[in-house]
Amino acid sequence: MLLQSIRNEPWIQIIVVLAVFIIGIVLQKSYNKYIQRLETYTNSFSLTLRKNSPFMKLIILNLTWLIFNLLGIFVSFFLLNFDFFYMLNIIDILMIIANIIIGTLLYMKLYNKDLKNALITISIIQVILSGISIFLNLLFKIFRTSLFSLPEELIIIYLLEYFMGVLLTISITVFVTKYGSKIQLVYDATDLIGLTAAIPGLIYISLNFLISPTDVYYDIFQIILTSWIISICVTIILKQASYRTIPRYDIKEMKVLEKGEALLDIEDLKVHYPLLKGILRKQIGAVKAVDGVSFNIKAGETVGLVGESGCGKTTVALAILGLVEKNSGDILLKKELLPKDYSRIIRKSIQIVFQDPDASLNPQSKVVDIIAEPLKNILGITNKIKLRKRVLRLLEEVSLKKEHLDRYPHEFSGGQKQRIIIARALACNPELIILDEPTSALDVSVQAQILNLLRDLQRTYNYGFLFITHDLSVVHHIADRIAVMYLGKIVEIGNKTQIFSNPTHPYTKALLASRSEVSDDQEITFVLSGEVPSPIAPPPGCSFHPRCYTKSYNDLCKEDTPHKIEVEEGHYIWCVNEEVLKDEFVF
Ligand SMILES: Nc1ncnc2c1ncn2[C@@H]1O[C@H](COP(=O)(O)OP(=O)(O)O)[C@@H](O)[C@H]1O
Ligand code: SF4
Ligand SMILES: [Mg+2]
Repeated sequence: MLLQSIRNEPWIQIIVVLAVFIIGIVLQKSYNKYIQRLETYTNSFSLTLRKNSPFMKLIILNLTWLIFNLLGIFVSFFLLNFDFFYMLNIIDILMIIANIIIGTLLYMKLYNKDLKNALITISIIQVILSGISIFLNLLFKIFRTSLFSLPEELIIIYLLEYFMGVLLTISITVFVTKYGSKIQLVYDATDLIGLTAAIPGLIYISLNFLISPTDVYYDIFQIILTSWIISICVTIILKQASYRTIPRYDIKEMKVLEKGEALLDIEDLKVHYPLLKGILRKQIGAVKAVDGVSFNIKAGETVGLVGESGCGKTTVALAILGLVEKNSGDILLKKELLPKDYSRIIRKSIQIVFQDPDASLNPQSKVVDIIAEPLKNILGITNKIKLRKRVLRLLEEVSLKKEHLDRYPHEFSGGQKQRIIIARALACNPELIILDEPTSALDVSVQAQILNLLRDLQRTYNYGFLFITHDLSVVHHIADRIAVMYLGKIVEIGNKTQIFSNPTHPYTKALLASRSEVSDDQEITFVLSGEVPSPIAPPPGCSFHPRCYTKSYNDLCKEDTPHKIEVEEGHYIWCVNEEVLKDEFVF
C-alpha cells in the first residue's frame, strides 16, 4: 500500500533515481572514510579519477546501481505492459534484492572484501538509499497531488509548515548527531548518521502531509515533535552502533573528557632539593625550588606557567609526574589524590614533552619503535600489526606520514622531532599533557605550527595542558589562564586577558615590560634591578621585596608572608599589601 501510494510517473522516478545516485556517492564516501579509519587508516580520501582510486571505485559501484535502476523503471513502465499497480510491490522487492546481489558482488570485487562484509555494507547502503528515494518520491507526490486539493489561500501556509517541519527535523538530527563527548571517535561517520537518522522523521512528516494535509494544519506541532522523536531515537541507536564498531582497545583506552571537568588540582606543593656536602653526603641546606604552589587545570584548558629560568617551573612538572619527591602538598588528578607510587594507570594519564627533542629520542630507534614503546609498556599491546596501525594513526594526528614510520630520529628536522615526541605523548591517550618549553628550541615559524597542532589536538580530545615557558608571546598564543612564578611561588594568576591587560603584581608588570627585550639566548633580560635571589636562602617575608619598586612597598614586606588577594573574579595576586591593587605604576 505504502509503495503504491507514493509511486510517481516514470520521469519523476528517473529524477529520484538520479538524485539518489548523487546522494549515494556522498554517503558512501563518508561511510568508506569511516571504515578506512577503523581498518587500515590509509591516506584520506581524494576526488581523483585515477584507475583504482577510491573515488573511481565509488563511481563504478554507483553507476552500475544507477543504470540498473533506470533499466528497472524502463522495463516496468514501458515494456511489461501488465497491470502495473498490481505488480508494483513484487517489482520493488525484486529490484531491491537484485540491487543487493549486484552491489555485493561488485563491492567484493572492487574493495577486495569477503561476502559477509560486502553483504552487510551493501544492505546498509541499500536501506538508506531506499529511505531517501521514498522521501523524494513523497516530496514530489505532495507537490503534485496534495497541494492542488487545498484551497488556494492555504497552499502557502501548508508549504511553510511542511518546509519548517523538514528543516527542523534535519537540524535537530544534525545537532544530536554532532553533540556528545565521544562523537570524535566516529567523526567521519557523522554525515552518514545525521542523514540516515533524519530520513525516518522526514518520511513521517511527508506521509502525514500527503495523506491528509488539512489535519496536519491543525496538528502541526504534534507531527513535528513526533518526527523529532523518531529521528533522535534513530540517531542515538546509530551513534551507539558506530561506537561499538570501533575496535575494543580503542574505545576502552580513548578518553574524551568533558570540557571544564576538574583535571588537576595542586595544593600548597613544596619541593625542596636537599643540599648535600662531603663524603658522608650530609645535608647542609635545601634548594626551595617550589615553595607552596597552588593552582588547578580543567579539561580542555591550557594553563601557562611563566617565570624566569630557575624559578621552579620544571620542578612543578617533575613533581606532578612523581619524578621528584615532594616535601608537602597535595596533587589531585580528577579529584583523587595521587598516591606515592605512580602506577601505570596514572602514568598513562599524564605525559610530558620536554624542550629538547634530541634528548628525548633514542637515536638508534626507528620512529615506529619510539612511539610504540608506551603502547607496549603501558597499554600492553603486543600485536605487531596493531602497533604499527596505531603508530601510523598517531603520526597522522601530528601531520606526519606513513613513510616516516621506519626512519631514524636524525632524519628529521627539529619541528618534526618535536611532533614525534608529541605523538609519543599522545600514544596512551593521556588526559593531562605537560609541555616544558616545547617550542623554545624551534624556529618561530615551526613554533607556530607546533602551537597550532597542540590547539587542534586539544579541541578534539579536551586535553588539559600545563604549558611551561618563559616566552610571553608563546603563552599569549596558547594559554587560557596564566600563573606567574617567582622564586618557587606563584605571585599572580588569572585568565589571559586579565594578566595581559591588567597585570597587578609588581613582578608581573616587570615581566610584561621586559617582553620586548627578550634576548638572543631567550632569557628574560630584566627591567628590574638586582639579581634573582638564591632559592637556597630566599629573602624573608615576600621573596620579591629586594627588587620591589612600588609605592606600596613597606617594612612589612620583609617580614610577613604574602597572602592571596583578589583583584577581580578569577584573578589573584600574592602580596602583603592590598594597596598594591591601587598602584597604577607602568613601565
Ligand atoms: N636536582 C636538583 N638538585 C638541586 N637543585 C636543583 C635540582 N634541580 C633543579 N634545582 C634548582 O631548583 C631551582 C628550580 O629549577 P627548575 O625547576 O629547573 O627551574 P625552571 O624550570 O623554572 O628553570 C633552580 O634553582 C635549580 O638550580
Ligand atoms: S609584598 Fe611588598 S615587596 Fe612583595 S610584591 Fe607586595 S609590595 Fe612588593
Ligand atoms: Mg625548566
